[in-house]
Amino acid sequence: MTSGEGKVVCVTGGSGYMASWLVKFLLKRSYVVKATVRDPDDPKKTEHLLAPAGAKERLHLFKANLVEEGSFDPVIDGCDGVFHMASPVCFLQQMTHRFAGATFPNEMYRFVDDRDVACAHVQAFETPSASGRYCLGGQFAHFPEVLEILPEYYPSLPLPESYRAVATGTERMSRGGDGKVVCVTGGSGYIASWLVKLLLQRGYTVKTTVRDPNDPKKTEHLLALEGAKERLHLFKANLLEEGAFDPIVDGCEGVFHTASPVSFSPTDDPQVDLIDPALKGTLNVLRSCAKVHSIRRVVLTSSAAACIYSGKPLNHDVVIDETWYSDPAICKELKAWYALSKTLAEEAAWNFAKENATDLVTMHPSFVIGPLLQPTLNLSVEMILDLVNGAETYPNGYYRCIDVRDVANAHIQAFEIPSASGRYVLTAYVTTFSEVLKIIRENNPTLRLPEKSTESMFKPYQMSKEKAKTLGINFTPLDLSLADTIESLKEKGFLKI
Ligand SMILES: NC(=O)c1ccc[n+]([C@@H]2O[C@H](COP(=O)([O-])OP(=O)(O)OC[C@H]3O[C@@H](n4cnc5c(N)ncnc54)[C@H](OP(=O)(O)O)[C@@H]3O)[C@@H](O)[C@H]2O)c1
Repeated sequence: MTSGEGKVVCVTGGSGYMASWLVKFLLKRSYVVKATVRDPDDPKKTEHLLAPAGAKERLHLFKANLVEEGSFDPVIDGCDGVFHMASPVCFLQQMTHRFAGATFPNEMYRFVDDRDVACAHVQAFETPSASGRYCLGGQFAHFPEVLEILPEYYPSLPLPESYRAVATGTERMSRGGDGKVVCVTGGSGYIASWLVKLLLQRGYTVKTTVRDPNDPKKTEHLLALEGAKERLHLFKANLLEEGAFDPIVDGCEGVFHTASPVSFSPTDDPQVDLIDPALKGTLNVLRSCAKVHSIRRVVLTSSAAACIYSGKPLNHDVVIDETWYSDPAICKELKAWYALSKTLAEEAAWNFAKENATDLVTMHPSFVIGPLLQPTLNLSVEMILDLVNGAETYPNGYYRCIDVRDVANAHIQAFEIPSASGRYVLTAYVTTFSEVLKIIRENNPTLRLPEKSTESMFKPYQMSKEKAKTLGINFTPLDLSLADTIESLKEKGFLKI
């Protein structure tokens, strides 16, 4: 995106919260930016502005004060556009008090992401037909909901205890899971760990399965979750043990079947390594579910891989949606064994559901990224690690992804929303590996990232978000997902820089 090439714009109050993002976006779009600050000698007001890519060449800082008549004249001179943002803001202090006191107001909180505001400013300038006033209201939520969401994304955020206690009390009424029991298979996995965490947060009692409950790497992070002591129950179960899930799903209202081997590595025996656990395992779990009258719905974690290998041609204009089914013959021909395992498991699940009147919903995420809760690496996050951990080359192809928190949330919504049904394609972003690297580079300038690309099998095509949106999912911004993934990789010791 280089719409600003050769254009000069001015941003007043450049060091401010919103203006700093605006300056960053404008630089990214190749504008020359003249930004004003009241004190250019104060590094707190200038250092962060001078750091982003392009600032050295195209950012010019000027001293100006709103109350000094004419101080903006030389700054604005020669500009194609002016973004006047500078203005004293006092209510922010009041807002801070709302989140820092012992109690919070029982009212609605309206907010919009800072990056969306900056983007809207740029669009309002660049779109010739833009005119008049624009209300920028992103979302609104009840204060307790905001307090529920914050620790979800930032578990280490020091919210005062008394604060959370009030929030928990108030939010209790709106928590979907109070008094309900659900099962998550393969609880120690990447997606499942987040699912367990969010379910506990919503008040559910969670029965989860692991293959080896004596392995602390599979259980410790789950047992440390908020609410786990009171409402998390761990069980040993293997997908290939007939009937192993009977006592676990008994008494549940919902079952989230996520357990399935995930591997793209060549295998001598795809049947044993991937297909049997996926296919036989899914039927094993569904047979257990069919015996339990209290189970209202089963949510199966399938994959985008069960949609894309249909044999239909793929190109930039193709949008893959819930009507696309992978063809097992094509998966076999391509030796796409993981895709085959997910395709056969889904097909068998739908046949079983039809014959046994099971309320089934299937979820189809593309590559899932975002912070790890478990101490081990899973495949989709390992792909990001492989890109940033000293690789010489990157795939010259397309990358489709979604944040793990959105995937977990989508599973819960698919269970809780009575009208949810059928399949859900879960892809937030279709981009390229080179764009992913560009975003990572911007936020981590010291990481050594690959410069050269190699041919890749990742073809261009779009994936529909329309049905996923009906679950009320607000997709996490890609740069935040990537930043949190990298941060998590560093925190867990996988990425040493
Ligand atoms: N991550 C992605 O990008 C992505 C994208 C689309 C779909 N999915 C699907 O999402 C689900 C979870 O994936 P993930 O990324 O969270 O992978 P993960 O971290 O590797 O988790 C896989 C889970 O499956 C369990 N499992 C494997 N074989 C099993 C067996 N024979 N018996 C019992 N449990 C078994 C593992 O249990 P143990 O801990 O006991 O080994 C683990 O908990 C899978 O169904 C996967 O196909 C993932």
